[in-house]
Amino acid sequence: MRKNTLLQGVTIPRHIAIIMDGNGRWAKKRMMPRSFGHKNGMERMIGLMEHAFDLGVQYITVYALSTENLKRPKEELDGLFNLFRNNFRKELQKIFERGVRLRTLGDLSLLPDDVMQGLRESEKDTEHYEGRGINIAVAYGARDEIIHAVNKAIENGEKVTEESFSKLLYTSDLPDPDLIIRTGKEVRLSNFLLYQAAYAELYFSNKMFPEFSDKELDKAIIDFSNRTRRFGKTDEQLT
Ligand code: IPE
Ligand code: IPE
Ligand code: MG
Repeated sequence: MRKNTLLQGVTIPRHIAIIMDGNGRWAKKRMMPRSFGHKNGMERMIGLMEHAFDLGVQYITVYALSTENLKRPKEELDGLFNLFRNNFRKELQKIFERGVRLRTLGDLSLLPDDVMQGLRESEKDTEHYEGRGINIAVAYGARDEIIHAVNKAIENGEKVTEESFSKLLYTSDLPDPDLIIRTGKEVRLSNFLLYQAAYAELYFSNKMFPEFSDKELDKAIIDFSNRTRRFGKTDEQLT
């Protein structure tokens, strides 16, 4: 269902991951509290998901809260948790109605119990959907994920392969991201998908997340489509 003629003939990434950065600065510029930025960020997140599915993207992973973010002031965290409690599930209904499965990535035990339960329930409600998926990285850190996986491998008492190790990560049954987008001007991964990003195409936008429009996503996808993914091979080997 390609509504956008600009994207005719463009290679659509199967899996897009987004580091949704810049909510705080976006709000500050408008002399509003950071929580206002997070609320607008969440609304933009839903809009982008709908747009990406319209374009034919199969998986969307969003970085909503890192393990490091858990050290932010209590007031900001309470605001974020309230968004999860009050807005998140309701807003996501329109995505779920399209038959999209929700997965969470991260150590949910670090969240308040009710927030964790809410996320688990949404996962359960949508687990029968096959095909398209949204993945919310919350209380997520790539180092934490890798350490968890290593400890599981040790418990299993078996040497790992690339394939078996992937299965121990939070992303176990997901393909690696093809395109990782970061908004908010910073050019870093901030502990996001360090293992899975091995061959992802990276795209950095100066837009703050709440102002990252559907058109901006189109631009990122067109940029992605113009890249040559060699996976270590030569150009000649690709043809
Ligand atoms: C990203 O926006 C969202 C979260 C980390 C929860 P920030 O809150 O980091 O916004 P800036 O970077 O301060 O603008
Ligand atoms: C990365 O943003 C985490 C999320 C978007 C959830 P941060 O704002 O926490 O990243 P740093 O601190 O600037 O690296
Ligand atoms: Mg930030």
